Amino acid sequence: MYSLDKYVVIGGTPLSGQVSVSGAKNSALALIVAAALAEDECVLKNVPHESDVYTIIEILQDLGVKTDFVGSTLRVDGSCIRSYQAPYELVRKMRASFYTAGLLLARLGKAEVPLPGGCSLGSRPVDYHIKGFQAMGADVQIEHGMLKAEVTKLVGSKIYINRSSVGATVNLMIAASLAEGTTVLENAAKEPEIVDLASFLNSMGAKVKGAGTNVIKIEGVKRLRGTEYSIIPDRIEAGTLMIATAITGGDVVIKDLVPEHVRSVVLNLQEAGVKIEESLSEIRVKAPERPKAVDVETAPYPGFPTDLQQPFVALMSIAEGTSIIRENIFDRFRYVDELRRMGADIKVEHGTAIVRGVPKLTGAPVETTDLRAGAALIVASLAAEGVTEISGIEHIDRGYENIEEKLRSLGAKISRVSID
Ligand code: EPZ
Repeated sequence: MYSLDKYVVIGGTPLSGQVSVSGAKNSALALIVAAALAEDECVLKNVPHESDVYTIIEILQDLGVKTDFVGSTLRVDGSCIRSYQAPYELVRKMRASFYTAGLLLARLGKAEVPLPGGCSLGSRPVDYHIKGFQAMGADVQIEHGMLKAEVTKLVGSKIYINRSSVGATVNLMIAASLAEGTTVLENAAKEPEIVDLASFLNSMGAKVKGAGTNVIKIEGVKRLRGTEYSIIPDRIEAGTLMIATAITGGDVVIKDLVPEHVRSVVLNLQEAGVKIEESLSEIRVKAPERPKAVDVETAPYPGFPTDLQQPFVALMSIAEGTSIIRENIFDRFRYVDELRRMGADIKVEHGTAIVRGVPKLTGAPVETTDLRAGAALIVASLAAEGVTEISGIEHIDRGYENIEEKLRSLGAKISRVSID
């Protein structure tokens, strides 16, 4: 499933044409797990083919859930879920697999799920998830790197979620939808993926109110039924394509997105001198020859997403002037060393990148160690003079569907070659 391919990119072509956005990875990961709460089959549409999606499907299959993925339609049948033990090797690969803890507690009253380890984004604990399960009556032990949790029946509770964690909000919504009584999540995450999860759960018969605000109320129900549901467009892919257009001085219509979900990106691109035209589900991005420097700070939704900080730094690396980019969510600046190899002038101090725009980047061999860093290197390579070779692209496969084909359809000279 993971490839050892690399991208070879010849930069310098302004992107032009039209491109469609795929379904949202981070929504898909939550909804696929939530689908197994139902006692019969759920049909999810607009599911992207990405390796993180394949991983969560494999984990569910290991628990006894039946799945069938054809085109962009995924059928999930949780009626035969039988194991409460999530497989170590697969769970370690991806933090979202910890959502199975909420699922298993809700369905079986018992969960043994390996704790996700550290990752390339720095320390990423799951203490908020665990505190939530405990507040709902679960007895939780951490033994041998494993969460072992048990409960006769989860009970609704009032839970304050520190730092508006997206993952904790998802996990607790999943657990609470089959609990006895009402759960109130305070300081809940407001991301569009949370609203998508709430709509999906409600279409399965759950009673979730308030998603999209910082207080979510979930009145537990006895059982959930199968449903058919289409996943929202991927706002991070949409933003990446907008930024890629901007760095190449291109003119592209990005289709099948929700403009509201990329509002912070639109505003910052406009400040950088990029012209944006919006309609109901499309955005046209018309870039100037060279963008102006803009200062950005990442924040939970509706703030500027941490998942677009990296491509935006790539864009700012060729801007006129100096931009200050502050990262408030994760430790996510290691990729700037690779951008420096391409000629960028970036200094990182205390979670802040000081990016002095240079007139041009030059192609170089570079390597990515995570998904969004990979997106930054693709964006940079599209504008760089000469050839850039990007290795480590199995990280990009985790969360961008057919990205090289999409970019090629816009005129980019990007190809995927086998490393040997
Ligand atoms: C989700 O991660 C996304 N992943 C991330 O996308 C995204 O970057 C992040 O939200 C922020 O928007 C998925 O949806 C699968 P958090 P998550 O819990 O849920 C701290 C990508 O590239 N924290 O909102 O793990 C945490 O360390 C990815 O697509 C705790 O301390 O993020 C962070 O500083 C990467 N304890 C902050 O809270 C906890 O129990 C917010 O993290 C949970 C979180």
